[in-house]
Amino acid sequence: MKEKVLRIFREHGGGFVSGQEICDALNVSRTAVWKVINALKEEGYEFDAVKNRGYRLMSWPDTLTQWEIASRLDTVIMGCRLEAYFRSHTSTNNVLKKLADEGAPEGTVVVADIQEGGKGRRGREWATPPPGTNIAMSILVRPRTEPSRLSPITLVAAMAVRQAVAGMMDDAADQKDIMIKWPNDIVFNGGKLTGILTELSLEEDRVSYAVIGIGINVNNESFPEELRGKATSMYLETGHRWQRAEIAANILKCFEALYRRFESDGFAGLSREYEKYLAGRGKKAMIMDREPWEGTVMGVNEDGAVLVEDHQGGVHEISSGEISIRGINGYSPC
Ligand code: BTN
Repeated sequence: MKEKVLRIFREHGGGFVSGQEICDALNVSRTAVWKVINALKEEGYEFDAVKNRGYRLMSWPDTLTQWEIASRLDTVIMGCRLEAYFRSHTSTNNVLKKLADEGAPEGTVVVADIQEGGKGRRGREWATPPPGTNIAMSILVRPRTEPSRLSPITLVAAMAVRQAVAGMMDDAADQKDIMIKWPNDIVFNGGKLTGILTELSLEEDRVSYAVIGIGINVNNESFPEELRGKATSMYLETGHRWQRAEIAANILKCFEALYRRFESDGFAGLSREYEKYLAGRGKKAMIMDREPWEGTVMGVNEDGAVLVEDHQGGVHEISSGEISIRGINGYSPC
């Protein structure tokens, strides 16, 4: 009911809504509406109430509740089931994998304000700062794609996060500075803003599901010593705090549209767009193979592999997970 009430206020774009309109839209009593508005006020929502005009939603807290995110969504699949936790004792990916094993539908999302067992790529830990700072979010997909064509899905998720975050920036310069470091980190002015960890469940020769876990540094005012100079946050780059539910909802919207295209045309239909935002494109990078070598980052192919040209003009296709690429000459230090 909170979600439905908030949705009505949001659809009125900050205008007044009469109590009767809400009762009629939701087919509930005046008392029921009044109770919901009071419960929302206790959570920090502010309403303006004017006799004969009704209520107006004035401000809302920066919370990652189910109703705060879902009331902003107009997606069909992504977020169709949304579980939001203030504190997850494990990783949101693990919580979602359990739901997936129990048959949760495609588009199920798990979000947490605090994640006590956050996982990063290559077995690393993904730390969560104090409440109110970051977003930890996992999205379930059940692609009909063959397993061999699925690996770029994590690049598709990176495109969605970049598009959502850049789309929220008023400043064109900021939009330009948000790039994707292959395969799927989002970097803002070269600092890591977002990490993505995708976990697959395969059954014989088909994909049972993929869980795409996204961690975003939103309102961090500083980072621990070991991350300084490497990580950044939306707050640090723009100088103001951000509403995390709005970011989460925008990511789900962007991901839904891109995922549809990926399902119908594969990554081939998206690779040119991905390349526009590929950090370090056309620049030199170190390829951290058994013997590190220097090359020029050219783009990506339709399987999501990055293309790197060596000194002799040979182009190498480097697949995700095989070896890593390090920027040189000022390109992304992650
Ligand atoms: C990386 O190492 O860059 C990937 C980090 C991925 C972190 C996110 S937070 C939400 C989801 N749950 C996890 O445990 N990890 C991912």
